[in-house]
Amino acid sequence: MQGIGIIGAQWGDEGKGRVVDLLTEQAQVVVRYQGGNNAGHTCVIGNQKIVLHLVPSGILRPGRLCLITNGVVVNPQVLVEEIARLKSAGFLENEDRIRLSDRAHLILPYHQRIDVLREERRGAQKIGTTGRGIGPAYEDKARRAGLRVGDLLEPEEFKKKLAANLEENNAYIEKILGGKGFTLAEILEPFREYGEKLRGLVADTSRLLDAEVKKGSRILFEGAQGSLLDLDHGTYPYVTSSTTTSGSIFSGTGLGFGRLPLLMVGVTKAYTTRVGSGPFPTELSDPVGDRLVEAGGEFGSTTGRRRRTGWLDILALNYASRLSGLGGLALTKIDVLSGLDPVRLAVAYRYRGERLTEFPADLKILSQCEPEYESLPGWQENLGSVRRLSDLPRAVRNYLARVEELTGLPVLLMSLGAERGQTIVIRDPFSL
Ligand code: IMP
Repeated sequence: MQGIGIIGAQWGDEGKGRVVDLLTEQAQVVVRYQGGNNAGHTCVIGNQKIVLHLVPSGILRPGRLCLITNGVVVNPQVLVEEIARLKSAGFLENEDRIRLSDRAHLILPYHQRIDVLREERRGAQKIGTTGRGIGPAYEDKARRAGLRVGDLLEPEEFKKKLAANLEENNAYIEKILGGKGFTLAEILEPFREYGEKLRGLVADTSRLLDAEVKKGSRILFEGAQGSLLDLDHGTYPYVTSSTTTSGSIFSGTGLGFGRLPLLMVGVTKAYTTRVGSGPFPTELSDPVGDRLVEAGGEFGSTTGRRRRTGWLDILALNYASRLSGLGGLALTKIDVLSGLDPVRLAVAYRYRGERLTEFPADLKILSQCEPEYESLPGWQENLGSVRRLSDLPRAVRNYLARVEELTGLPVLLMSLGAERGQTIVIRDPFSL
């Protein structure tokens, strides 16, 4: 395979950054194509913990070209700060390794304020957003009023467009949301500075990507959030505002379908987590759920929020597989299940006396579903030092085999701890 798409197969936080970091060893290019700094990819290298929100995690390996393409919404302040942090931590010797699409839309301070004020207004009905302005920035894009990275490079044009946008957004903030608007100068000055700092990175990333495809480079597409947060196919309205399934690899980069052989790898934890509101059929509000939070360190890397936890949901996984055309799985955090006996997999839902074997897209149905579990023997061993499939306890191998059987997908990779080396590559996706 020349290209691999890394797709979150749950509600985000599956460990995609980790998998990208591992596969980057063999790739020349890594691409972020949707979402924004609502994502937080945590990578542990030696005793350094790096959290990336916008720059693809491929940056942590020397020499890789990292693209932030048109489908991403970019908060330039966050990007400038992230680049500075990468430099001071010794991971970015040369800014030539990062390229930013001139067509990516900008997150402006009013987007963030609208996001936060709206959530307050929703009260108990809140979505539980990350408060980073993602939704409002995509709204401006869709209503054809957004400001793009390219505009940052044209200060006079930027000023004109910003003035028009401020008028509308300030009126909305003040009259509808009861907040305080922004002055033009308040935004203009810092954004002029970001423009200067980012100017050297801005490019037509669609053309760059095409050139890499023609050269035969191996390319990784780093998805953000998870399939069940997809704007169209997720648990709407408790979703994010972008397409998190594989289709946005094309629309979010400008790469044509069929331009290169691509394999979609779905990343899933060995259990399930969710941050924010919305239905979650296998959620555990009991000591097992607490244990998953503690053993798995289940606190958001962007907002620090405690994640909701539950058993692995095969229906949700099969739904994600169907939506993205997954060809294999990367199973993360299997070590967290050590000490639980039995371990469970949700294999069906009960809904008003009916047995469902497909994930229902309708939120009203989903919120009334009771999972039906299959129990498998657990294991007590600490898996942190295991490096070969054959050295895994039999119960773990049984668990993997059952997940493969129920999803019809091979487990290609697995992680058994937070560190870079704590992984087993069962089958290298690039070699398929
Ligand atoms: P937004 O993307 O900030 O608008 O948030 C919408 C929903 O997506 C909320 O439930 C968030 O918790 C969730 N979300 C957004 N980004 C991530 C992520 O990277 N991991 C997990 N959940 C996320």
